Amino acid sequence: MRFAFLASLAGLATAALAQSTAADAYVASESPAAKAGLLANIGSSGSKAQGARPGVVIASPSTSNPNYLYTWVRDSSLVFKALIDQFTTGADDSLRTLIDQFISAEATLQQVSNPSGTVSTGGLGEPKFNINETAFTDAWGRPQRDGPALRSTAIITYANWLLANGNGTSFVTNNLWPILKLDLDYVMNSWNLSGFDLWEEVNSSSFFTTAVQHRALREGIALANKIGQTSVVSDYTAQANNALCFLQSYWNPSAGYMTANTGGGRSGKDANTVLTSIHTFDPEAGCDATTFQPCSDKALSNLKVYVDSFRSIYTVNSGIASNAAVATGRYPEDSYYNGNPWYLAVSAVAEQLYDALIVWEQQGSLNVTATSLAFFKQFDSSVAAGTYPSSSATFTTLTSAIKTFADGFLVVNAKHTPSNGALSEQFDRSSGSPLSAADLTWSYAAALTSFAAREGKTFASWGAKGLTLPSTCGGNAGPTVQVTFNVDATTVFGENIYITGSVAQLQSWSPDNALLLSSANYPTWSITITLPASTVVEYKYIRKNGGSVTWESDPNNSITTPAQGSVTRNDSWR
Ligand code: NOJ
Ligand code: NOJ
Repeated sequence: MRFAFLASLAGLATAALAQSTAADAYVASESPAAKAGLLANIGSSGSKAQGARPGVVIASPSTSNPNYLYTWVRDSSLVFKALIDQFTTGADDSLRTLIDQFISAEATLQQVSNPSGTVSTGGLGEPKFNINETAFTDAWGRPQRDGPALRSTAIITYANWLLANGNGTSFVTNNLWPILKLDLDYVMNSWNLSGFDLWEEVNSSSFFTTAVQHRALREGIALANKIGQTSVVSDYTAQANNALCFLQSYWNPSAGYMTANTGGGRSGKDANTVLTSIHTFDPEAGCDATTFQPCSDKALSNLKVYVDSFRSIYTVNSGIASNAAVATGRYPEDSYYNGNPWYLAVSAVAEQLYDALIVWEQQGSLNVTATSLAFFKQFDSSVAAGTYPSSSATFTTLTSAIKTFADGFLVVNAKHTPSNGALSEQFDRSSGSPLSAADLTWSYAAALTSFAAREGKTFASWGAKGLTLPSTCGGNAGPTVQVTFNVDATTVFGENIYITGSVAQLQSWSPDNALLLSSANYPTWSITITLPASTVVEYKYIRKNGGSVTWESDPNNSITTPAQGSVTRNDSWR
């Protein structure tokens, strides 16, 4: 018995060592391959990016099945965030010219009129462009509202470095801030509107999108304060608070995971949520669950639910122990190319775990709660809720098992990476062979950021520490505008004009609770109401005299409220 126990412990230790040796070897060979693969996909001199303008990131050089020879704002921004992190931490000083070219390219794309609109009418939500910086005009899932947020985060990281290095205030204020302000205003004005998710399929609100929008606004506020652009601060803060409130609503407490989208009709288990944890990681925020930090109980519970959803559906995962690393994809219901594991999803799982390990080491303890218990029990079935200091045996057992688990995900990718280190988008769920777009730039960036996390690298805080929720959270209340309703209506003595309509602010079509207009400018009756911005609102005027109510004739009146500011409606009673 005792012998068997020791033997199994030794077996475990051997397995852990094997896993970490294999991960070490993969990191050593894949790091240069991924960096080279990534740089090859950036114009104009990248060897696989012919035809791309300077600083333009191609998603992949693949021109058919699928054709990915376009530039996506999301992919490009995530890729450049990884490069900017390397540059600003001194890991690669050679990247500055490329970073400046990226920012110029994105500033150009902001101004390109496209099917989502112009720069001032929604065009910033356009997901992808041609690599010569012209608009892509075919049908597509648009808008996608994570792009401007991710782009801001990348550029703000660079701006903060410039400021900290004492040579950038005027450059940041005059060159970067105007670009940032366009994106951040867009985020402020539209974060609560529906749009397509990061997988370009579901048109609703999406956890990843809300989370990266929230982060961008917080960083934008901090930068604005630093460079004296304080006029935006109160509006950005109001919407950052609203977004943080809304972010909480994706959490599904009974099932222990974040539901990726408010629409879509799926389980909602989705790599979206793991990508959120790693791309909103703030090493100073501890294991805060309000911002779903990688080591928060909610994000760990979610990670287990997400990973487990792929154990039985991919043949490549068969025979793997229920607490060991497996191949994971975008979401279990995925049918794109028949639904397969994605390298970037597998890397993201490893990265979330490495991020968590960084924070536990840094804070010298690890906390197990009722919410995260199932996650931790995978590594020690006897563990109970509680706080374990780094001097405890439980801390050591858990963190070393979690390190092995994390390394296991890198080893999953290693197993499906060809010897030249090339990373495509997916690998086949049955055969394990690389599949779909070859040399996916995002796959390379995801590998590099997971390797950096494994080495314990952290990057600048974005201000997640100490954020608290407002005392009341009002759904996805977003920006509002002032709308003045004027209606010309002749009335008899004792008769008054009211308004009601399709939104709560107009009393949801209730004649009893309809809002009274002022007759100060009779025969024009008037009222100014705060309404949600960028929203189609229907309304009617009604006359009330004693108990009798007379509605205007059909159809309903309708107004699309502007994105910001105020507007006046002049109507005549019908
Ligand atoms: C292409 C999109 O990029 C991908 O995310 C999606 O799954 C497929 N179209 C199918 O809708
Ligand atoms: C399809 C993915 O679903 C989407 O997230 C990505 O932006 C594009 N491919 C380009 O890589």
